[in-house]
Amino acid sequence: MTDSILHIGMIGCGYWGPNLLRNFAQQDGVRVKTVADRVAERRAFVTKGYPTVATVEDHQEILKDPEITAVIVATPAATHYALTKEVLEAGKDAFVEKPLAMKTEEAVELTRLAAERGRILMVGHTFLFNEAVRDLKRRIDAGELGKLYYLYSQRLNLGIVRGDINAAWNLAPHDVSIGNYLLGETPARVSASSVQALQPEAPRLDDVVFLTLTYPSGVVMHCHVSWLDPRKSRTMTVVGDKKMIIYDDVAQDKLQIFDKGITRGERVPEEQATDFARFKMITRAGDLLVPNLRVPEPLQVEAKHFIACVKERKTPLTDGHNGVAVTAVLEAADLSLARGGAPVDIQIPAAG
Ligand SMILES: NC(=O)c1ccc[n+]([C@@H]2O[C@H](COP(=O)([O-])OP(=O)(O)OC[C@H]3O[C@@H](n4cnc5c(N)ncnc54)[C@H](O)[C@@H]3O)[C@@H](O)[C@H]2O)c1
Repeated sequence: MTDSILHIGMIGCGYWGPNLLRNFAQQDGVRVKTVADRVAERRAFVTKGYPTVATVEDHQEILKDPEITAVIVATPAATHYALTKEVLEAGKDAFVEKPLAMKTEEAVELTRLAAERGRILMVGHTFLFNEAVRDLKRRIDAGELGKLYYLYSQRLNLGIVRGDINAAWNLAPHDVSIGNYLLGETPARVSASSVQALQPEAPRLDDVVFLTLTYPSGVVMHCHVSWLDPRKSRTMTVVGDKKMIIYDDVAQDKLQIFDKGITRGERVPEEQATDFARFKMITRAGDLLVPNLRVPEPLQVEAKHFIACVKERKTPLTDGHNGVAVTAVLEAADLSLARGGAPVDIQIPAAG
């Protein structure tokens, strides 16, 4: 790793940008030099909290600055493709918030462009930098849960209602990226249903979306995302034949490991068979383990990872291919919604 200071520019500092700004500004060997935002009030916010960071209205100022070699894109999803393309074409490394793009072909193009230009492209799939998710993956990979049957997630809250993308594009990139990471594969099929209550006049601004993803291994994942729910919930339940785990991101104890399961025993003799089962079903309800995890702020880990990848020219964990896979699932989910919930096969193109 070189010891030189990495100069970073950032485009967009609205609701989420300040979290990225704070975490990147805290890193050693980094200087966030310039933030671009079209809105004067957002530029004033940056100046107040970070007097040494320059602010500009036009992101071209960042692209033209030869000292800035890496750029964070934290603008609304629909702008990611065009802005990231400009960043890469300007010869700079890019950290892009999720989703990488709103079309699979655009995500593929960005991934190819980054490879051709020898640039680092990283997508902000934040939860892959969450120690609880990583611990869960280690347990799955070590076989602690046994054969996986299914998993389901709930990412619910009252607000924030968006007017540019539906709840699936806004919230499900997290769950899909977690699911792909935990299972080490990408879904083959998706079906989606939704409720569009608050903005019925707009095309596809669904407030609540239910996604059912089928992975090639046969594991099924169900994602429920909503900004129209009475309670904040960020949970994922993973059920295997040996153990079951609940990951609750808003709880103090993020993982709960249940030594629970149902094993199929011997066949019930025909004369004793009831309507309940043809086989003895042996329920096991053992101990509950709550591991004592140290979970640093995921954005700190994410920022460190991007900086290390830039300085050491390493491929990020959440690289363009990762972003393509998530985009392809969401695009297929849109198609399923348009077809009244019909299952849609997901083609994830190779991006080089
Ligand atoms: N990783 C996470 O957990 C997480 C959480 C929330 C949001 N996000 C992502 O962060 C991104 C931004 O979301 P948000 O909620 O902050 O949106 P936002 O609308 O609150 O903020 C976007 C900002 O970008 C600015 N902007 C837009 N186009 C610009 C341009 N061309 N040049 C300069 N500034 C421009 C706007 O003025 C605004 O201030 C989205 O991609 C969203 O998906 C990620």
